[in-house]
Amino acid sequence: MAAAAAALCCVAACALALYLYRVLWAAPERARAALRGQGIGGPRPSFPYGNRAEMRRLMMQSPAAAPPGGGGIVHDYRPAVFPHYERWRSQYGPVFTYSIGNMVFLHATRADVVRDLTLCVSPLDLGKSAYMKATHRPLFGDGILKSSGDAWAHQRRLIAPEFFPDKVRGMVGLMVSSATALVASWEGRMTTTTRGQELELRIDDDLRAYSADVISRTCFGSSYGKGKEIFAMIRELQKAVSKPDLLAEMTGLGCLPTTRAAWTLNGQVRHLILGVVRDSDDGGGSLLSAMLRSAAEAAAGDAAAAEDFVVDNCKNIYFAGYETTAVTAAWCMMLLALHPEWQRQVSDEARQACGDAAAPDAAALHKMKKLTMVIQETLRLYPAGSVVSRQALRDVTLGGVRVPAGVNIYVPVSTLHLDPELWGADARDFDPERFAPARARPLPPHAYLPFGAGARTCLGQAFATAELKVLLALVLSRFDLRLSPSYRHSPALRLIVEPQHGVRLLLKRRGP
Ligand code: HEM
Repeated sequence: MAAAAAALCCVAACALALYLYRVLWAAPERARAALRGQGIGGPRPSFPYGNRAEMRRLMMQSPAAAPPGGGGIVHDYRPAVFPHYERWRSQYGPVFTYSIGNMVFLHATRADVVRDLTLCVSPLDLGKSAYMKATHRPLFGDGILKSSGDAWAHQRRLIAPEFFPDKVRGMVGLMVSSATALVASWEGRMTTTTRGQELELRIDDDLRAYSADVISRTCFGSSYGKGKEIFAMIRELQKAVSKPDLLAEMTGLGCLPTTRAAWTLNGQVRHLILGVVRDSDDGGGSLLSAMLRSAAEAAAGDAAAAEDFVVDNCKNIYFAGYETTAVTAAWCMMLLALHPEWQRQVSDEARQACGDAAAPDAAALHKMKKLTMVIQETLRLYPAGSVVSRQALRDVTLGGVRVPAGVNIYVPVSTLHLDPELWGADARDFDPERFAPARARPLPPHAYLPFGAGARTCLGQAFATAELKVLLALVLSRFDLRLSPSYRHSPALRLIVEPQHGVRLLLKRRGP
């Protein structure tokens, strides 16, 4: 009897070892061999962590932050933030492969590969990376950001109309309310703390509050106060799922103790969102009500499916739109503080476009061409989405490279945006003129991807642009911005590339 039990244990252990070997090594090794067979190089992975150790080592050696004072600011943050990509790209060229655990990556900046990825519109060929899906599931659920195939196509069809330009034009008034409150709070602080003199501010948290306020007002309509509470909890959820958890990543198990706290938080967020949607008396005008209506129609009476849709996508839209916009606004103000000549031009333009009105409307926003150029140049130098990532759902060919199903394709946006061959010798300099409507040199195709690529480009692009323009127009028509001597330029990766020590500015009231 004991011998039989021992034999059974032995067989089970062998089966487990075989399963682990196949999942953790043999399957990824087949994909790596297929890529190597096409002449694609890359660092040699080791079992079971792949190239994680080398990645860590190179990160530890990355250059330190610039000293305070804003002197010697270099916009190219790649050596500090992505030293491993820099090293491997110089060793293996613009297309190479590396691994993390059992996940194989194809890193590509070659124009033909990027072009084909951009042009691929079939949801059955390319999807979002399943990478980190287990750990991130409480935050994203089955929402639009991480879903693939038909599930994604269905969600995109339902949500996209809510972000069409005519809908966004109707949201400008809400954005102005949020921006006016921010400007008033800065004016108030200036009056009380410096008696109208120059005020030193770390702007990051205020910009986050602005962004959360705008999404809360548009998502939750009249219940936006409750919405802000929900977003505070989603932010906690985001922190909980951002903690590295290699075990969960590799096994795909979402029920480990490390992910349990996130699931508890997720339950509370769900309860609150559904409560607000049920009690909402906004006449169906908010984004969430509209989403619930179309989801309910599509789910043909399946109320639970419609609720899941709304809860998951509420969290997705919050994540997609909150920090991306706030961080872009912070980089933009930093760049304008460094470039007073552009600041003056944008400020004059904003005042002219608004005319006698104290704040812009949709028509005034449309007139602000210089401001658009400044935002475009900010997103070139500091793209919030630092990589465009896809997973091959079946074997695909991109730029002549046969990519086996399961491989993750990473296009590092900052490398495309700073390539001197595409953008000229001054690619690392701030020059919004390169986006002028009547520019001498046309924009290089498939080389500017701040809002992603192809069928999955950012749904909130028009929304984010309007939100940024409203804020910057109001701030720049009221204040003169200078970089504080205590500002330390140190971009850091925290899901998106943000100023590690915040952006510190000196604000002065602008004269007439
Ligand atoms: C400056 C601000 C923003 C930037 C830089 C940005 C950038 C991006 C990027 C790079 C992607 C991935 C695209 C791809 O994989 O090809 C994306 C997706 C998305 N963004 Fe944005 N985003 C911003 C603001 C917003 C806002 C304000 C919203 C909504 C309120 C939003 C909603 C979305 C959604 C729903 C997706 C998923 C689209 C899909 O997978 O079909 N984004 N965004």
